[in-house]
Amino acid sequence: MDGIEIFVNGKARDCSGTSPHVRLLDWLRAEGLTGAKEGCAEGECGACAVLVARPDGHSGSRWTSLNACLPPALAFDGQEIVTAEGLGTVAGPGAVEDLHPVQREMADRGGSQCGYCTPGFICSMAAEYYRPDRSPAQASRDTGTGAVGEDHATDDECGPNGFDLHALSGNLCRCTGYRPIRDAAYALGTPPDADPLLDRQNRPAPPARHTSIDRGARFLRPGTLAEALQVMQENPDAKPVAGATDLGVEVNLRHSRPPLVLAIDRLDELRTIAFDDGLVEIGAALTLSDVERGLDGRVPLLAQLFPQFASRLIRNAATLGGNLSTGSPIGDSAPVLLALDATVVLCSLDGEREVPLSEYYTGYRQSVRKPHELLRAVRIPLPLAESTAFYKISKRRFDDISSVSVGIALQVADGVITSARIGLGGVAATPIRALATEEVLLNQPWTADTVARAAAVMAGEGTPIDDMRASALYRQALLGQALLRFHAADAPTLEVSK
Ligand SMILES: Cc1cc2nc3c(=O)[nH]c(=O)nc-3n(C[C@H](O)[C@H](O)[C@H](O)COP(=O)(O)OP(=O)(O)OC[C@H]3O[C@@H](n4cnc5c(N)ncnc54)[C@H](O)[C@@H]3O)c2cc1C
Ligand code: FES
Ligand code: FES
Repeated sequence: MDGIEIFVNGKARDCSGTSPHVRLLDWLRAEGLTGAKEGCAEGECGACAVLVARPDGHSGSRWTSLNACLPPALAFDGQEIVTAEGLGTVAGPGAVEDLHPVQREMADRGGSQCGYCTPGFICSMAAEYYRPDRSPAQASRDTGTGAVGEDHATDDECGPNGFDLHALSGNLCRCTGYRPIRDAAYALGTPPDADPLLDRQNRPAPPARHTSIDRGARFLRPGTLAEALQVMQENPDAKPVAGATDLGVEVNLRHSRPPLVLAIDRLDELRTIAFDDGLVEIGAALTLSDVERGLDGRVPLLAQLFPQFASRLIRNAATLGGNLSTGSPIGDSAPVLLALDATVVLCSLDGEREVPLSEYYTGYRQSVRKPHELLRAVRIPLPLAESTAFYKISKRRFDDISSVSVGIALQVADGVITSARIGLGGVAATPIRALATEEVLLNQPWTADTVARAAAVMAGEGTPIDDMRASALYRQALLGQALLRFHAADAPTLEVSK
């Protein structure tokens, strides 16, 4: 079949009649594949989860779970998708021939009651079932991703089969209760060699296709960065879209209808990680899951951030470029990247420019990025500060937006603080550096006294406001506590490294 098509459960389906603002979920359901459900339409519940074959960073592919309620269907031109209907086999209407192991365990262990959430759980669970590095050896692993003293980030929630329960953190169930679902997850074996979905991971993911469609609104997936920049130059109203985890919510809940949607998530130039002598450069369109795997803990402060950023379903789509470009004062990557002294690389047909993140934001959701520029990469200078922490205070432990977030990066030599950088989110119209606090810390002994003085200053940083997430007073109190908490947890480590 020529034209715009998506391969769903092994079958090509024509997608060329679809408008740019139709979400993958709606398109699937209109095709009669009604397993994926709409619960929230904002990426919170996982009822819409499906599997997509994505590049694994080497020569193979990886079944990746995504929320279908957020991205446009056209973003999947030429891609392979598996829905809950594509797992297991059905002999005829209502006659199940062979359940997939994930479905079998969920059925046997009572993991489903009303069933509304179940297809989404099944897809998230199947992605983890096929995860290439899942193994019983991980069963009692320390994730190594936790901030010191941060209980929720060091939770060991792996089953005896290596199943990481956080794979399900973006799936909500209202009636079954999570115990039977966990039992099903932990009872899964390893896929047999003959499993076709396992075998599929040995081959490359489908390449991105050059897609162009005009249905009143336009959808365009350019083949190269140069082409994308040309489109940006000529169309000031072009809306770049990467993971669509922000844009999808704008479309669904705030009725945003960009006249030109420009897909940038598969541009090679925005998808590399490079370590140089003096810096690490991270492509803006890599998903957070890609970055997490690509860095493999080599930037410990980012490794602390990822488990606390949304859910696996969101991290499988969301990008650093998207997170920084929204300019949200409560975005989680900015405080961490400010503490790491990061810069952003902006590009346009005029060339590239590098801007320190601390100078990037100019006001509420405003930045120095011009309409025809794309954020290509984030650069972090090396060597990294030795002692770091990320504190995210939110109403729920996982899959929630911050009330306040704090990224801390300190270097201590011979008991003296030789460098201090602290990034704050949720306490001003933009993410900010805690400059006054940093000044109090710099060149001072790393003692409880210094920390108490700095903590008092930190409580006064920013201009926190009352809103539905937290009061200004609460935010100030949280700021004041962060350094004390860091010192209490980290002082012994720093003493040893004197
Ligand atoms: C359920 C849910 C939970 C969430 N939890 C968190 C959380 O815990 N912490 C947090 O910080 N955020 C969270 N978010 C927000 C969101 O996931 C992040 O901001 C994400 O990083 C956005 O990336 P994206 O690729 O999906 O952006 P998109 O939605 O594709 O784009 C967002 C904006 O950035 C622009 N853009 C994207 N890439 C570029 C680029 N390279 N250059 C220029 N402009 C660009 C787009 O035009 C658009 O305006 C959550 C969202 C949802 C739906
Ligand atoms: S419908 Fe709730 S996450 Fe998609
Ligand atoms: S089984 Fe009813 S919502 Fe999960």
